[in-house]
Amino acid sequence: AATKKYQFDVQVSNVSRLCHAKPIVTVNGQFPGPTIYAREGDRVIINVSNHAQYNMSIHWHGLKQYANGWADGPAYITQCPIKTGSSYVYDFNVTGQRGTLWWHAHILWLRATVYGAIVILPQQGTPYPFPKPDSEQVLVFGEWWHGDVEEIVKQGNAMGLPPNMSDAHTINGKPGPLFPCSEKHTFAMEVEQGKKYLLRIANAALNDELFFAVAGHNMTVVEIDAVYTKPFTTSAILIAPGQTTNVLVYANRAPGRYFMAVRPFQDVPIPVDNKTATAIFQYKGIPNTVLPSLPQLPSPNDTAFALTYNKKLRSLNTPNFPANVPLKVDRNIFITIGLGKSVCPTCINGTRLSASLNNITFVMPQTGLLQAHYQKMKGVFTPDFPDRPPKAFNYTGAPLTANLFTSHGTRLSKIAFNSTVELVIQDTNLLSVESHPFHLHGYNFFVVGTGIGNFDPAKDPANYNLVDPPERNTVGVPTGGWSAIRFRADNPGVWFFHCHLELHTGWGLKTAFVVENGPGKNQAVRPPPNDLPPC
Ligand code: C2O
Repeated sequence: AATKKYQFDVQVSNVSRLCHAKPIVTVNGQFPGPTIYAREGDRVIINVSNHAQYNMSIHWHGLKQYANGWADGPAYITQCPIKTGSSYVYDFNVTGQRGTLWWHAHILWLRATVYGAIVILPQQGTPYPFPKPDSEQVLVFGEWWHGDVEEIVKQGNAMGLPPNMSDAHTINGKPGPLFPCSEKHTFAMEVEQGKKYLLRIANAALNDELFFAVAGHNMTVVEIDAVYTKPFTTSAILIAPGQTTNVLVYANRAPGRYFMAVRPFQDVPIPVDNKTATAIFQYKGIPNTVLPSLPQLPSPNDTAFALTYNKKLRSLNTPNFPANVPLKVDRNIFITIGLGKSVCPTCINGTRLSASLNNITFVMPQTGLLQAHYQKMKGVFTPDFPDRPPKAFNYTGAPLTANLFTSHGTRLSKIAFNSTVELVIQDTNLLSVESHPFHLHGYNFFVVGTGIGNFDPAKDPANYNLVDPPERNTVGVPTGGWSAIRFRADNPGVWFFHCHLELHTGWGLKTAFVVENGPGKNQAVRPPPNDLPPC
């Protein structure tokens, strides 16, 4: 195993898109930021130096960080922010994982521009469990805003309303020629006829689940969230913010120029967002004057496509890559996702939108929760997040509009080391149903079941897939439905659990799990590094 070292200089750079230049926060002046390359088993050391006027923290999304939450990154959860003019070293081992993941700022909405890919190759000499690609390409999807994102969010908060939506989607930071002034901001990938390509795709968009397709070419899905899957062929993929997907594409069509395109999946279209970002799949030797053709993407409200697509995702589950699904459950947790209101004296209408889990809007602490847990500090959080909502109701019936006020607290769920947990995440029709990509830090989990309507504990578990369910770190809970996930709590620490739509995270759709230390020598949270930023 090797040690890979990176220097990340967080700085402000001028970037121009859609006919305007504006200062944005970048890493090393690059947008998107640099790709991190490592092999399974490597140690990765990244020195983050913050030269921007914002506090910063960076999260390595999907890396498990065993007993080492200090390197996980979410601000006020596992560390205090890296202040302007200071540095912090993220030092971690990549153990038992290989595939595509990504990194992003984990404070305010700064991940709008501060993100990049992580490519973890298998150990030297270990082949992929699918046909070897001739070449590989990272594609990171994002969003672009004309204005200063932090300002837009502040205004939205003051009005108690969501901020306006982004002005473009992007592929590797570029919106493509369907947007104004964007001909020169078009990502192109050159391919040779007869060759196979592995596309390593990450969705870094702030608030949009996205469909992706390549005109004229099918894709074979081989991995999601850095876990191999049973390969299947599809004309389009669906990817939620936080998720990653690897697909194989054969350049086996008439040489030409083909668009690759992304557009939101929105089965609850408020507001409607049908912007299409494009990049080019360009056969070698074809002149740029040939017009590309657009792929057929599922229509924005194609819920049926989404459900069928997600059902096709299965763990590879071979002797080399077994799916170790917990069959016996020690702890059952049921969490409702709600949209409600909070009193807000400074807001224009006196209330603001608030999101909640089991009716609790998460209040961000002033100090890092992992530190508070490690040092047994009092008064930072309470370990009493309930395993059930305060009262049962018809979760997905007619929209509930009365008494929508949420309770508030920094309440965490405490989990015994090595216990097996089943967590059912239930969408509700408080104000409105909506789909939510839920991400758990520090773990992968198995998505054993999913359904539309109210979860029925008497019937639904009988239909679980306990053989080869998809294993991932971010699950799209369907609109007006539920997802059941299982994991073994073998990673001690404090692990953030939140909706990966930035809008909802900001409204409090989050909590954290405190996984207690185990009895073994390596089963306890390690001591913090000396340069851990103070609050
Ligand atoms: Cu990619 Cu806590 O997030």
